[in-house]
Amino acid sequence: MTGQKIDGIAVANSVKDRVRAAVAELKKDGIEPCLATVLAGDNQASASYVASKQKDCSEVGISTKDHRLPQSFSQQELVSLIDLLNNDKTVHGILVQLPLPEHLDEFSVITMISPIKDVDGLTPYNMGLLAYGRALLKPCTPSGIIELFDYYKIDLSGKHAVIINRSNLVGRPLYHLMLEKNATVTTCHSKTKNLKEHCLEADVIVTAVGDRSRFTLTQDMVKSGAVVIDVGTSRLGNKLAGDVDYDNVIKNASYVTPVPGGVGPMTRAMLLKNTVTAASISKGIVANR
Ligand SMILES: NC(=O)c1ccc[n+]([C@@H]2O[C@H](COP(=O)([O-])OP(=O)(O)OC[C@H]3O[C@@H](n4cnc5c(N)ncnc54)[C@H](OP(=O)(O)O)[C@@H]3O)[C@@H](O)[C@H]2O)c1
Repeated sequence: MTGQKIDGIAVANSVKDRVRAAVAELKKDGIEPCLATVLAGDNQASASYVASKQKDCSEVGISTKDHRLPQSFSQQELVSLIDLLNNDKTVHGILVQLPLPEHLDEFSVITMISPIKDVDGLTPYNMGLLAYGRALLKPCTPSGIIELFDYYKIDLSGKHAVIINRSNLVGRPLYHLMLEKNATVTTCHSKTKNLKEHCLEADVIVTAVGDRSRFTLTQDMVKSGAVVIDVGTSRLGNKLAGDVDYDNVIKNASYVTPVPGGVGPMTRAMLLKNTVTAASISKGIVANR
């Protein structure tokens, strides 16, 4: 059997259509959804991610406020800026582009963001709500993966899911989201023994290592009919590649996400969705359960 490619661009476009409609509704009520982006330091990759996110916003009618701090800025200056944005009623979402320069404590900075403007869903408060199964603002990559399952009507109930990643950005929040969908979830990482055996038992594999020299998910690690989600991004020669040996794994799998064109566009789309949710929360339109 040959599996089906999951088209992350098409699903992301469907999310964007919904967001565009929600933005139009909010504007009718006099609410102008606005995302503040904070770019600290001179990392070129981060600058281009921020530019893409701003472009995505303008495509769906969300306005942006661009804040840039030089490499030499202090933690206190960044905290003061976040404080300002937390109290700015015209700003609904705050995105601090990660990673921050090394002289800053990322955790303390994230903790400063108001939970109701936390469109990355990474503050301890929102991560806690996620563990309770009650978060409204969820981390973008894991919630984008759940959207893919929903779009392709991939039912996780009773399925064994293996996640190869335990970061706060991907693996930990995804664990909770897949558990909510009634999957039985195993989290693997660099110290996991017998990773291949775990993978071979999985109905769903989500891999997010991002270093082909350390890990590649090959065909012999995937059982027939499994669903494979590839979050990893690394360079293979001149090309962008994921963790998965796509051309061969798709011969065993039922569904596989490509890189590029799989999870990446979903992460971007979910930021827009979170910004609209944050704008709605700010006006009391969405209340937490
Ligand atoms: N497409 C997107 O939208 C998107 C979004 C987010 C991230 N990503 C990509 O996803 C990848 C992971 O991102 P991250 O921020 O989560 O990075 P990270 O914090 O470095 O996480 C990498 C994970 O891989 C595990 N790992 C490393 N070597 C391994 C091995 N040989 N076997 C099994 N597990 C191994 C690590 O285990 P330990 O915890 O034991 O070190 C860690 O849990 C990166 O390539 C990143 O660019 C893509």
